[in-house]
Amino acid sequence: MQLILCDNYADMSEKCAEIFAEQIRTKKNSVLGLATGSTPIVVYEKLAELYKKGELDFSEITTFNLDEYYPLAPDNDQSYHYFMNEHLFSKVNIKPENTNIIDGLADDPNAECKAFEEKIASTDGIDLQLLGVGVNGHIGFNEPDDALIADTHITDLTQSTIEANARFFNDISEVPTKALTMGIASILKSKKIVILASGKSKHEAVKAMLNEKITTATPATMLKVHPDVILICDKEAYNG
Ligand code: F6R
Repeated sequence: MQLILCDNYADMSEKCAEIFAEQIRTKKNSVLGLATGSTPIVVYEKLAELYKKGELDFSEITTFNLDEYYPLAPDNDQSYHYFMNEHLFSKVNIKPENTNIIDGLADDPNAECKAFEEKIASTDGIDLQLLGVGVNGHIGFNEPDDALIADTHITDLTQSTIEANARFFNDISEVPTKALTMGIASILKSKKIVILASGKSKHEAVKAMLNEKITTATPATMLKVHPDVILICDKEAYNG
């Protein structure tokens, strides 16, 4: 795992946006894996700025998002559909039909997850996957557990994740307790992965990725088996 240590959140976001911009310029029809949450917001802002300046073209880009709450309607303002539209898709020339986010209202979540996995497989694979990391070390919504699931699946959120994400909702009781998420293998099949960590609360996860053994108790440590992962973190996440 390559480490890029940045002074602060702004530098981390800049560095990550540069890597994504380079990917989009080098391969116009790149397949990108995208994340939500607070960490990537400025990365998306910077990519949208580059598009506005005429420096990036998303017209041939395909995207797959890591996860979505379940059950939650796509037009709910806490859904990841809404988030992606708000922060990126509505600001660039990506074709809506080329954006893929798991349906948080699917009647049959297992069939929805299978179809999503097949859709990824129908491409040449994800060229560049963006990840954030949970305070508890989750990636996507692959939560710490005795065993982890390979493919896209439905999962229960841990209490720690529900509490961490309550900040986006009016009340903790509104946070969905389940999610649909890409699995560990779906993530690790990506050709290249960039994982972001900002702030003291991510220090334990960063330490585990850099210094500890691979364990399902900290899903982000699974990234150590991948040959091309860049961890971009700020000093607070690195030093604790
Ligand atoms: C979001 C996702 C999650 C977040 C993680 C960190 O699509 O898959 O794993 O990346 O929970 O969230 P923030 O960035 O809000 O700290």
